[in-house]
Amino acid sequence: MDNPRIEWKNPGNPEIIPAFYAITVILFNRLVVHSHVDNSKCQAMTERADITGLLHRLQESPHPPRVGAGPSQLPWNDAEFSKRMLAVHLDPETHMASRAPDVIHAHVDWLEAQLEVAQGLRKPASGCRVLDVGCGPGLYCHEQARRGMPSVGFDFAPEPLRWARETAESEKLDCRFLSADLTALPPDFAEQIGPQEAITFWFGEFHSFDAGQAADFLVRLAACLVPGGLFILEYQPYDLFVQEDSADWTVHSNSVFCDRPHLWLQEFGWDEDAQTEIHVHWVMDAESPGVQRYVQCHRAWTDEQLVQMLAAAGLESFVFHPPITGVSEEFEFPVIVGRKSATRNVTDEDA
Ligand SMILES: C[S@@+](CC[C@H](N)C(=O)[O-])C[C@H]1O[C@@H](n2cnc3c(N)ncnc32)[C@H](O)[C@@H]1O
Repeated sequence: MDNPRIEWKNPGNPEIIPAFYAITVILFNRLVVHSHVDNSKCQAMTERADITGLLHRLQESPHPPRVGAGPSQLPWNDAEFSKRMLAVHLDPETHMASRAPDVIHAHVDWLEAQLEVAQGLRKPASGCRVLDVGCGPGLYCHEQARRGMPSVGFDFAPEPLRWARETAESEKLDCRFLSADLTALPPDFAEQIGPQEAITFWFGEFHSFDAGQAADFLVRLAACLVPGGLFILEYQPYDLFVQEDSADWTVHSNSVFCDRPHLWLQEFGWDEDAQTEIHVHWVMDAESPGVQRYVQCHRAWTDEQLVQMLAAAGLESFVFHPPITGVSEEFEFPVIVGRKSATRNVTDEDA
């Protein structure tokens, strides 16, 4: 090699997965083409150094992935990621980030029916106040407000929140949207939100949090409910967690991770001790210097564990419901409904 500072090291790991070879082949192909076109040894060396770093990073990570320290969620609150994610939320052709409008309408129909029953059918759901947790672009809040249910949503993803607010304003809807991190709700959260007849937690992010985090935020959320108010949690049943390890790679012209052509390696692992599914995304594109790595951990809870966690927050009278529309086993889950105890108020100190 001309440049003594850069030394190519063969990773030499016999257990390297096939996708790993594919990455190497693709990146080397690019390296060769690029260096011929550009005729710049220096550029080629830089790229080769990147590949070395990439290979080491991949090698150093556990395969299959296991629960470790560090972030365990997608970078929802990253400004650029949230811009790209907004487009997925609003795409009516996919249920991936938010469900399609007809499914959301069906969910809100169901919510209205739950509220009517909860009030002993004495009055319609109209007028009932609803807090939506992890509201994204506010599609549920908007629909509720159109039907006369004043709604407040919170999330920590900037671009979906901006879109939620603008839509509410342009339609003059009775909606508020707050920027708040579920894992760091302030002590006066209930005062900021005001009393609610229902809290909804749609679409799976509940499983991204560990037991301690869930215990803390459930108490803060439940404190927002009026006595007898409904806590509605869409959850992924234990049996739907894929309890096996696998890996896969694909090439995309753009995705939520990158708006340029890129290689996307996905690894899935099941950590039996932690009862957690781990999903690692490795994203590489031609222009970024390194590799992006994101880890999602999803904790599986049994029905009994869910009931215990909700009960510890002062909720009771639990009812399990099947998925509301049944449109997709992958993107729509069952729902558990609990009611805020009329007699027991759990505080932070109890949790
Ligand atoms: C799959 S999306 C669902 C959005 C919305 N519930 C819906 O169904 O249209 C999950 C949402 O949870 C939000 N989220 C994830 N972690 C959060 C946290 N720690 N605090 C607040 N929001 C969070 C994300 O920003 C994202 O908008």
